[in-house]
Amino acid sequence: MKLWAGRTGGDVDERLSAINNSIGFDSRMYREDITGSMAHARMLGRVGVITEAEAAQIVDGLKGILDDIDAGTLDIDMTCEDIHTFVEATLTQRIGTAGKKLHTARSRNDQVALDIRMYLSAQIDRLIGLAKALVRALCDVAEAHTETVMPGYTHLQRAQPVTLGHYLMAYAQMLLRDIDRLTDCKRRTLVLPLGSGALAGTTYPLDRGYVAEQLGFNGISMNSLDGVSDRDFALELLSDLSILMTHLSRFSEEICLWCSWEFKFVTLADNFSTGSSIMPQKKNPDITELVRGKTGRVYGDLMTLLTAMKALPLAYNKDMQEDKEALFDAIDTADLSLSVLEPMLRTATFHPDNMRKAAAAGFINATDCADYMVRKGVPFRDAYGIVGRLVRHCIENGRTLENLTLEEYREFSPVFDADVYPAIDLLACVSLRDIPGGPAPGRVRETIEATRNAIG
Ligand code: ARG
Repeated sequence: MKLWAGRTGGDVDERLSAINNSIGFDSRMYREDITGSMAHARMLGRVGVITEAEAAQIVDGLKGILDDIDAGTLDIDMTCEDIHTFVEATLTQRIGTAGKKLHTARSRNDQVALDIRMYLSAQIDRLIGLAKALVRALCDVAEAHTETVMPGYTHLQRAQPVTLGHYLMAYAQMLLRDIDRLTDCKRRTLVLPLGSGALAGTTYPLDRGYVAEQLGFNGISMNSLDGVSDRDFALELLSDLSILMTHLSRFSEEICLWCSWEFKFVTLADNFSTGSSIMPQKKNPDITELVRGKTGRVYGDLMTLLTAMKALPLAYNKDMQEDKEALFDAIDTADLSLSVLEPMLRTATFHPDNMRKAAAAGFINATDCADYMVRKGVPFRDAYGIVGRLVRHCIENGRTLENLTLEEYREFSPVFDADVYPAIDLLACVSLRDIPGGPAPGRVRETIEATRNAIG
């Protein structure tokens, strides 16, 4: 049955239904559709557009439908055009005439805008919860590794020593900002479009504020054309999720690299690793490759909606029905990625010895050696040149800065003394970087504490 059968007879070609129907994907908004309709019906009763008794009958009927779908005793009819049609038709079937009054002073245009906003708001809460769980895992693992020295990289070349704890907390900071962006997006998502009608509002004396209040919205939209045709809150969520996935893909790439024999900084737990069908020795980080790979889907979802919305004339256009699959796909992908990374990280085994070995081999304390000379009164640029020559000497002779003799050091500069050795010790190099936001163990512990407080 089509809601609009009066105009066209409703007897449509099945190929039209194939392109037009959205129930295949919008049925997942049944809860929001029903809850939104309950608030609308209560309001209609309160302002006297329908009687209080009719409103109560509608609310009861809708509640029954929601309970039955939740309990699995009512199947959503997938031949309906969309979830709005299914709920209204089922209501009328169950309660008769009063059901036919539900759609008074409403259009599917403002109804669907309401449903999406409610659905996205609930999903944002869910994603924030998952992001927080991953931040907690990063904090917990980081706390155990505030003194685990590893090389920090620029250009993927060993650069300066940091710690694993410091490294992991970098990702925690990114996720904190993602959480902040999602929270902000939710604020703009919870603006009530209902009352915008099809595009030009309605002649009925609706109490939009009462509907907003019942549904926990922050306010009401101030222009009916905008109310039904705005999807920028959805674009904002897709942008936020794209940025979030960028962060997860960078983290995933690190784990992929670190799992390789070239690095061997980490081993994933067996139940979070995969194997090869032909190479018996293989243990693969498929999880992080997939998170890295799925990031592209979310970027694609953002492009899908940006392109669908580009240059659309006001107000509602059916192009906008294309918003849902992109949104749902992005939400599902972010959800899955966050959900799997958290236990994967918690169960992974890091290899401090290998990190330490890598840190010892790349002259990553060369800057610290130059800083040592600066403390002895040598201008930094001169110290930089001297240490550069020292490093070349080491490479040519298979030595490290740690195992050069004091005599060798003194051939390059008389300022060197026995205290150069503790000054270039890797953990000392890290500990000396004792400024807010730096890698010194105490500073990383401060960051962990601040991060835990931020997520409550
Ligand atoms: N399924 C539609 C959507 O998702 C609902 C709105 C239908 N409105 C209309 N004028 N046909 O956008």
